[in-house]
Amino acid sequence: MQNKERHSLQKQLYILVFLQTIAILTAVTWSVTHIVPHFYHHGSLRSVEEDNSVTQRKSVVNASECDNHSTVHQVIHNGGIRLADISVTILATFNDGFVDFLRNWLESLQRLHFRFNVTLIAEDGSAFRKFFKAQSRYKRFMAIDLYYTNSKFVKNSFPGVNTQQYRSIVCKRPRYILDLLSTGHDVLFVDIDAVWVQNPLEVISSEFHNFDMWVAMGYDGTTPCPCFMYMKANNATITMVTEWLNRVQRNKCYTNLHAENEMIALGKVMQVREDLRLLKVKKLPKTQFPTGESFFLKPEWRRDHRQDVYVVHGNRLGRHDSKKSWFRKVGLWFLRF
Ligand SMILES: *[C@@H]1O[C@H](CO)[C@@H](O)[C@H](O)[C@H]1NC(C)=O
Ligand SMILES: *[C@@H]1O[C@H](CO)[C@@H](O)[C@H](O)[C@H]1NC(C)=O
Ligand SMILES: *[C@@H]1O[C@H](CO)[C@@H](O)[C@H](O)[C@H]1NC(C)=O
Ligand SMILES: *[C@@H]1O[C@H](CO)[C@@H](O)[C@H](O)[C@H]1NC(C)=O
Repeated sequence: MQNKERHSLQKQLYILVFLQTIAILTAVTWSVTHIVPHFYHHGSLRSVEEDNSVTQRKSVVNASECDNHSTVHQVIHNGGIRLADISVTILATFNDGFVDFLRNWLESLQRLHFRFNVTLIAEDGSAFRKFFKAQSRYKRFMAIDLYYTNSKFVKNSFPGVNTQQYRSIVCKRPRYILDLLSTGHDVLFVDIDAVWVQNPLEVISSEFHNFDMWVAMGYDGTTPCPCFMYMKANNATITMVTEWLNRVQRNKCYTNLHAENEMIALGKVMQVREDLRLLKVKKLPKTQFPTGESFFLKPEWRRDHRQDVYVVHGNRLGRHDSKKSWFRKVGLWFLRF
């Protein structure tokens, strides 16, 4: 081949590659702005997915626009159950390794025939993409707001309990909760390695005017478990969660594995507020909100209390696969995968 010809061929090739690059860049820009419409950045809720076919919810974008949420309580007639005064968003976070647990939990909500408001925060891009595709299945039955947080730490799919990845997820709970409370939304924060067998809002609504918050108990029966807690959006809870956040940040819970964890920190700040009579807390009974240990590991306990249980939480059952096999064993795994 002559030099001249080769040069012109090379030139054509370069032009082709250049055009392809432009096409790919355009496609990526389009999908980032259109397919991934909302991000959770710097700890504040910026934008919310609106799905008018499912819900009339106001967005969480601007606090002053949401002021009326905290004052106007309405009676809900929902799925045949009348829950006076409760208007709440259920808040949960998830990562790539637990999308199946998230879906199993949502299946259990769907079976309660009640239209819940659910706010979900994906802790990594892969989790977001997986669930983004699957969410339409649930949106017929509940109102879902899906956010994405670009966590710096989460890389591992199955973080062990005392790893930095795990810490970086759980230590962000107070931040998310505070964002919602301070925009006037009652929050029910939950872990998704759980199955709801009865509607827990019934328990809360039965004595709604007596407390500021409701919380499940941890394995020792006295430490509050951040795995299930309802908080009214009021001064008492906002002050407590602000202190919880400050304490967690002061201890560098995010990065220091030896620091006090966020569960212990929560127990301490709650105790102080309670002692000052500035926070009214209802500790939820273990027969209705058992730990994984009681429910899964003790067949007799399970038999005796099956009728009482509202929320089955799979804590202290090991990592992902071990947990999942326990849920299967007791007939609480609803997915085919
Ligand atoms: C929030 O909404 C109020 C009333 O609609 C408006 O005056 C204010 O500028 C908004 N704030 C932001 C940060 O958008
Ligand atoms: C809140 O409700 C009051 C009375 O219903 C109304 O006048 C006011 O415009 C509402 N504010 C917002 C920000 O929606
Ligand atoms: C869901 O959110 C809407 C709007 O914020 C509220 O009116 C409704 O009561 C909520 N439903 C439940 C079950 O909390
Ligand atoms: C909430 O706290 C603020 C500031 O501390 C205070 O001004 C306000 O009156 C309090 N509101 C209620 C309902 O207690």
